[in-house]
Amino acid sequence: MLTEVLIVDAAAPDAAAIARAARCLRQGGLVAFPTETVYGLGAHALDSHAVARIFEAKGRPVNDPLIVHVADFEQIEALVSHIPATAPALAARFWPGALTLVMPRSTAVPDVVTAGLPTVAVRVPSHPVARALLAATRLPVAAPSANLFSRPSPTRASHVRDDLEGRVDIILDGGPAHVGLESTVLDLSGDVPAVLRPGAISLQALGDVLGDVRLWHTTRGAADSTAMRSPGLLSKHYAPRAPLTLYEGAPGVVEARMKADATAATAAGRKVGVLDFGAEPDSTVVASRLFATLRELDASGVDLILARGVPGLDGLGLAIQDRLRRAAAGRIVNVDSPRTGV
Ligand code: TXA
Ligand code: MG
Repeated sequence: MLTEVLIVDAAAPDAAAIARAARCLRQGGLVAFPTETVYGLGAHALDSHAVARIFEAKGRPVNDPLIVHVADFEQIEALVSHIPATAPALAARFWPGALTLVMPRSTAVPDVVTAGLPTVAVRVPSHPVARALLAATRLPVAAPSANLFSRPSPTRASHVRDDLEGRVDIILDGGPAHVGLESTVLDLSGDVPAVLRPGAISLQALGDVLGDVRLWHTTRGAADSTAMRSPGLLSKHYAPRAPLTLYEGAPGVVEARMKADATAATAAGRKVGVLDFGAEPDSTVVASRLFATLRELDASGVDLILARGVPGLDGLGLAIQDRLRRAAAGRIVNVDSPRTGV
């Protein structure tokens, strides 16, 4: 398959390019496009053949449901069986933006989108290119992150090309996705709203609107009920090719331990990559660079990556910590606890 790359101005998306991409989606094609969080790989959400092509292109397991992107709140009515009481206020506060709402689905949504779950995940993205595309199609667009399965999410069109060139019809190149981490996934289908995936919208910000919100522990291991609550939220996601070991705990001790382990690995003839955002106090900067840096480390051909953990205290810190822990896929050294090791 030939992949067309269309360069679009993020500030003022070219109407002809958008129209071309919209036509492609309507005809059942695959279009990768920038959102404010990461690049998405879109297909007509009500066309199950088109959606099936997403799974094929990414090599994604079919039990991992997709987020449906829409132009505005009104468009969700056709996708849900009813609108949860808290949804309008959340949408008013956070849409367009990096919040995904999980709601009871309507029969219009094909099984392939929701992996057979009784719920559907929906969001209204804020990136001008995504908005222009959704406005032009007036279709709900199912779109996971536009990476090959288990690779870090793409924050630039070049990442999408690296993973999906020859597997998708069109890539809209609208420059870097500025947030750099995926949306917060909030489940409104239960009694208490639950964050299934921490992301760009913090728990605190959600709490301001909801009062009561809980964090579903997504990084505690795949054997618990998390796997059923949200099948895509397994560990070993966002993983670079080189095994990544994450060091958490007291900063001074972490630094000494990372240095010692790097020295030992180098002495053993292994090429070591270090991921350390410790000197960067601004978590928005860390978020925007995290996935790109993981890809760069991989491209440099390192044999292993040693990464310094982040505190996970503020909203974005929690999301960064979550992605780092997943990338580590269990290889976490907590220097504060004497019993853990590589
Ligand atoms: O920022 C984002 O959310 C990006 C951009 C492209 O919008 N999309 C994204 O999609 O990250 P993806 O497929 O990589 O992640 C979607 C997450 C998965 O963890 C999936 O399990 C969860 O949302 N999800 C989707 N539908 C769900 C549902 N009905 N119930 C629970 N979780 C769901
Ligand atoms: Mg993804």
